[in-house]
Amino acid sequence: MLSSTLRVWIFALAGLVALAALLWWRAGVPPVTVSQTVTAPESGTASIGGAFFLTDHRGQRVSEAALLGRYTLIYFGYASCPDVCPAELQNIGAALDLLAQGDAQAAAPLQAFFITIDPARDTVPVLAEYMPNFHPKLTGLTGTAEEISAAAKAYRVYYSKFEETPDAQNYLMDHSNIIYLMGPDGKFLAHFGHGVTPEQMAAKLREAQK
Ligand code: NI
Repeated sequence: MLSSTLRVWIFALAGLVALAALLWWRAGVPPVTVSQTVTAPESGTASIGGAFFLTDHRGQRVSEAALLGRYTLIYFGYASCPDVCPAELQNIGAALDLLAQGDAQAAAPLQAFFITIDPARDTVPVLAEYMPNFHPKLTGLTGTAEEISAAAKAYRVYYSKFEETPDAQNYLMDHSNIIYLMGPDGKFLAHFGHGVTPEQMAAKLREAQK
C-alpha cells in the first residue's frame, strides 16, 4: 500500500509531466493565422504553381501553358471585393504601365492574371465587365468550383466565404492577398505581399528580365 505522501508525489510528478508535454506541444504548433494557412512561399517556392484549366473573361479556355514565354503576375481575388482586390488590380495595372514606359526592347512580354476565388458569382460575363476597369494586359480567369479549387491549391491560395454575411448574394470572401510573379518557364519567381507598390513590382520584373 502506498503512503499518502508518496501518492501526492506521484500525482504532482504526473501533473508536471502533463504540463511539460502541453508546453512542448504548444511550442511545436504554429499559431493559426491566415498567413500560415495560406502560403509560405519562403518555405516552399518550388511547389508554387502547376497545372490549371480555366476560362478567361473572353470565354477562351486557358491552361498553365499560357504562362510559357512570358512573365506573368498572378493574383487571386473576386470581383465583388469592396476594397483590397480592386486596389491590388490597380497596382498590377500601374506596374504593367511602368514597365511599358521603360525600354520597350528590353522588356519581355508581360501579362497578368486575375483568378477568381468566387466562381459562383464571377462568371465569364461578370469578369468581361469587370476586367476593363483595370488594364488591357490583365486577364480575368474563372471556372467551375472544382477548377478554381485546383488552381488555388496549386498556388497555395486560401479562400473561404464569410459565413456571418446575412445576405446570400452579397457575401464577402476571405482570401490570401499575394501577388505571384511567374517566369517565362512557368515557374515561380517571386511573390509580393500586401502593400507592395507598383514601383516595387516593376523593379522586380525589370530585375527578373535581365
Ligand atoms: Ni479581395
